Amino acid sequence: MNLTLKIWRQKGPKDKGQMVDYKVTEISEHMSFLEMMDVLNEQLVAKDESPVAFDHDCREGICGMCSLHINGEAHGPDRGITTCQLHMRMFKDGDTITIEPWRANAFPVIKDLVVDRMAFERIQQAGGYISVNTSGNTQDANALPISKHDADEAMDAAACIGCGACVASCKNSSAMLFVAAKVSQYALLPQGQVEATDRVLNMVKQMDKEGFGNCTNTGACEVECPKGISLENIARMNREYLVASLKG
Ligand code: SF4
Ligand code: FES
Repeated sequence: MNLTLKIWRQKGPKDKGQMVDYKVTEISEHMSFLEMMDVLNEQLVAKDESPVAFDHDCREGICGMCSLHINGEAHGPDRGITTCQLHMRMFKDGDTITIEPWRANAFPVIKDLVVDRMAFERIQQAGGYISVNTSGNTQDANALPISKHDADEAMDAAACIGCGACVASCKNSSAMLFVAAKVSQYALLPQGQVEATDRVLNMVKQMDKEGFGNCTNTGACEVECPKGISLENIARMNREYLVASLKG
């Protein structure tokens, strides 16, 4: 396949940035999207041009690093996958593909397609932990019965990889789905009860401090989330927040 790529180039955080057109050739439909980007960069380096900076690590849908907005959709046109799991068979020879970084004030661009997602780390630091003893004299897991329903829902919430697609897809740049997943994975388990009140209050406070927008229930986050995190987690977080506020 031969393709035209329209890619956001930005030299640094203070640079204005612009879309730049590139032709890329000899792309196999069996390549992943990131392999196609590797081919582009090899072709750019061979021409003595600067390669396009983009984030990636695991390349198997686990780390959440590969944050690309492709043809106006977070992680591109497929569903339930990250950018690294997107394959070139989703495109046709001669296609024009637009590639941009996540757009949100709380995720400033560092360079080209790389954004700073430390805001998510700071939200995690505000409450995404437990203080129960997990080493030495750890309690036997079987001594803490947990219903299958709650265990399954907690596991589903814990599937969030912190990629930020929910923020990038939301017209308000809201981080509610991410924060709700992190609150839910503890709220559903007995181990999460010790800090439950402080956790939800502190994580929401940090989310607001980072400059994410408000949730207006449009649901775009759930559609674009590669891990199928449900909006039900937002409803659960709102309940947790209400109860915690009344206690506080
Ligand atoms: S909720 Fe989904 S889209 Fe948002 S950070 Fe987690 S995995 Fe990514
Ligand atoms: S590179 Fe790790 S999820 Fe895509």
